[in-house]
Amino acid sequence: MTQNTRIDAAPREKLVIFKTANEASDAVATHMLETVRKNPKAVLGLATGQTPRRVYARLIEAVRDGAVSFSQATTYNLDEYCGLPGTHPDSFAAFMHRELFDQADFSKDHINLIAGDAVDDHEEVHRYAKLLQNSGGIDLQLLGLGTNGHIGFNEPGSQASSRLRIVDLSDDTLESNQPSLIELETVPARAITMGIADILDAREIIMLATGEAKAEAVRRSLQEPASADCPGSYLSQHPNVYWYLDAGAASSLGSRG
Ligand code: F6R
Repeated sequence: MTQNTRIDAAPREKLVIFKTANEASDAVATHMLETVRKNPKAVLGLATGQTPRRVYARLIEAVRDGAVSFSQATTYNLDEYCGLPGTHPDSFAAFMHRELFDQADFSKDHINLIAGDAVDDHEEVHRYAKLLQNSGGIDLQLLGLGTNGHIGFNEPGSQASSRLRIVDLSDDTLESNQPSLIELETVPARAITMGIADILDAREIIMLATGEAKAEAVRRSLQEPASADCPGSYLSQHPNVYWYLDAGAASSLGSRG
């Protein structure tokens, strides 16, 4: 609960650099907890991947400590691999249940996930897009950053106007995500992802990027003009985006290149 006062007392910094990934993750957890304490019915946009794992662990601890409840919150996940049922350990749905939902007090009815194993992917896009449209808007969207600058699975080349859709994953992404697989030997080649325009519709966005592998994508996102070459750069068009970095991810900032 000590975390609660710091940010209420002063305007939030839009870019904060911490020494370690753990510190950056803890600060993101604090930010999210404040959002939900202020608005227990908050609509949260969530990401998977290695980066948010500690954030989710902190949220679980806060629920266990009685410091917050997510029982009235609603969640929407950003993306999902095509072809994987939610029960497959490599699906993003399974990740979310393992890393967060099953250990916190989310209401099942308020968790929204893309069905990777839908009979018809296009129908699934339609179903999820409708859910998003009826959500009242995402209050807080948590993002990670791909080494190639992707946000969600909006790979380089994605347009600012893009919406929820089926995408082919780039070779960079297939390679980067391979070590995260539990059972599969290769990363599924296609995914359904919220588009750039869907992400920018959120009222507030948190980008958490950690590790030197992200440094170049962070630099391009923050220091180059918004362009499809580096989808993270589109975030500069949003009025309310917070970057939480560790020293590694921030290590190329300031250098011109
Ligand atoms: C995951 C997602 C991706 C990841 C990105 C970083 O839902 O949308 O954009 O945030 O690939 O992944 P990690 O955190 O594994 O480096």
